Amino acid sequence: MPVWNNNLTTAYEQHNILNRPEFIYYQQEYFRQHCLDKDILELGGGNGNLGDILKSNKWVNVDPYSNSDNIIKQDAISYLENCSEKYDLVITCFSLHHFMVPNIKTLISKGLKPGGYFINSQISPQSEFFGNEHFNRLFFSRGFPTTPTISTSTTNNFKFHEKTEQTITLKLGYQEMLNFIRQRSWSNLVEMSPSEVSNLISYLPNDLSLLNITVIREIMYGI
Ligand SMILES: C[S@@+](CC[C@H](N)C(=O)[O-])C[C@H]1O[C@@H](n2cnc3c(N)ncnc32)[C@H](O)[C@@H]1O
Repeated sequence: MPVWNNNLTTAYEQHNILNRPEFIYYQQEYFRQHCLDKDILELGGGNGNLGDILKSNKWVNVDPYSNSDNIIKQDAISYLENCSEKYDLVITCFSLHHFMVPNIKTLISKGLKPGGYFINSQISPQSEFFGNEHFNRLFFSRGFPTTPTISTSTTNNFKFHEKTEQTITLKLGYQEMLNFIRQRSWSNLVEMSPSEVSNLISYLPNDLSLLNITVIREIMYGI
């Protein structure tokens, strides 16, 4: 399980390639329809942007490494184990792999009201990026689950509802991608050796201008 720490929070805040308006827009537009009037629990919400922008009845954000106020600084598992509150919706965005214990689905399902559901959003390891197979193979060789999505694994606690994929094209140049990799701004990069990081950098085209990232979103109802 890829581990997070405070250094990674700093690198993520400064160099995360997804922290740009065109990406944030698509995340918000997807979640907007699900949030209105709901009591929401977000696990691993980072700086809490999603909940700040979308309208809901209640938005509880749990993240032990967040620098933002109004976020419960607690590990998602211990929060779920000790929480007696029930929510209409539990959300994880690019965070589930950091607390993917074997009974995670049972714990999430216990936090849901009857009819409540869980949405997991994650980066697809099949993302095209800039179309270099060597880069993609190495980039996704660390920190990404071998079972790619939660809905394909067996569970007694959820009824699978829907899985969608959306490819988002980011306008991003060589220097930004270089900083992102060099500063090891995602947890998979932290797990790489210096020579693997150098190899990733060597695959970057000097004239890089666009990056295609595919986001998987899965909806599961608690039962
Ligand atoms: C890749 S970031 C995603 C942040 C945010 N959801 C976003 O979309 O930008 C992963 C997040 O998971 C959080 N995290 C790591 N371990 C966690 C844990 N055990 N419980 C809850 N959150 C955790 C990190 O602090 C970080 O904010």
